[in-house]
Amino acid sequence: MAQGKHDGVMRRFEDLVAYVATHKEVKRCLVRADLNLPADIEDLSRVHAIKKTIQKLLDMGLTVVLISHYKRPSIDDVGNPKFSLKQVAAKVSNVIGHEVSFCSDSIFECDPKKLSGNLVLMENLRFYEGEAKNEREFAARLACFGDIYVNDAFSVAHRKHASVCEITNFLPSFSGLSLQREVDNLSKLTSTVEGPYTAIVGGSKIASKIEVLRKLSTAADYLIIAGAMGNTFVAARGVNMQESMVEADQFLVAMEVMETAKAQIILPIDVSISRSIKEAGYNCNINKIPPGYSGFDIGQATTDLIIDVVDKSRTILWNGALGAFEFANFDGSTKRISQRIAEQTAKGRLISVIGGGETIASIGSRKEEMTFVSTAGGAFLEFIAEYALPGLIALGYHNSCSS
Ligand code: 3PG
Repeated sequence: MAQGKHDGVMRRFEDLVAYVATHKEVKRCLVRADLNLPADIEDLSRVHAIKKTIQKLLDMGLTVVLISHYKRPSIDDVGNPKFSLKQVAAKVSNVIGHEVSFCSDSIFECDPKKLSGNLVLMENLRFYEGEAKNEREFAARLACFGDIYVNDAFSVAHRKHASVCEITNFLPSFSGLSLQREVDNLSKLTSTVEGPYTAIVGGSKIASKIEVLRKLSTAADYLIIAGAMGNTFVAARGVNMQESMVEADQFLVAMEVMETAKAQIILPIDVSISRSIKEAGYNCNINKIPPGYSGFDIGQATTDLIIDVVDKSRTILWNGALGAFEFANFDGSTKRISQRIAEQTAKGRLISVIGGGETIASIGSRKEEMTFVSTAGGAFLEFIAEYALPGLIALGYHNSCSS
């Protein structure tokens, strides 16, 4: 069993409030956020998620020093504006409703006592080698920017990085409200789940989802595999998917999941095909895809089948795109299925949990109608697979994982 250093008791935000009330010397709070916004920087869910934590800290009279990574810069990208957090500062200001002052100075050169403003955003943590190496010296330097530390970035809890893990050895550390909301809601999917429990897994890159697929294939009642991943599972059974996206090197993994599953596995029985993603699609039986054609969305019969399963489910977990939803000619299944999930959720018949940036983007404004939408991608998958997440362990959280 993975054991947190606080014996399984996560230091929650409520504990922080009590701590600050009794420690008058606390003036600055270092907040680990995830401002790694999607490429177009238009989806501000991750900023909205931390708003309450920041406002409460500011209301307590503390100076908030925000730290985050942004994308994955290489050593040659250090200082490159493309990777600078400066470009998100104004967006953070707008959402939080408070002026953000951006500090472009190196954390090794800048004087923590001379930061301007009471909401400060530091430069991309991944400009420093010590971050990804979880280096003690780097964490010690970061710690100079706060009297206490809050982690409100559940989406990086799977990274053993200095601003997530080692930092907790230098400052009294607490979870932020958004991180807590994630843990509290996602824990419902790893403990007693109200069944029938259905998992919908899509997208591509089976390798990045294999552990969660294994877990869900035994924990769920129905496991629906769609999107490019569905193509691979169907092809592993010998179906000729023609030009469709298929990961042939994952056939063995797919077969293993299907052979060992306790859940009823549902795979596409038809697809919407065309020669090119820019052309209109037409419905085609999965066994009859003509040469030169690709499947870009699951078909109508598969969508009907999934809607039937949604109707008999009590809990739904959805991660991964069902098709090429970015193209209006291939977003049909996503629209119909997300609408049905939203309707059943509104009627109180379904607990719906959605995770992963692509999935959230695919359902657009429907996300407001789901029971819970996680801001995390990789961390969401690892949490559901019941991996012990280093960032949670560092906060004292103890989950039921044995890895
Ligand atoms: C994410 O977008 O999932 C988080 O910000 C983590 O980013 P990373 O995969 O680059 O560590």
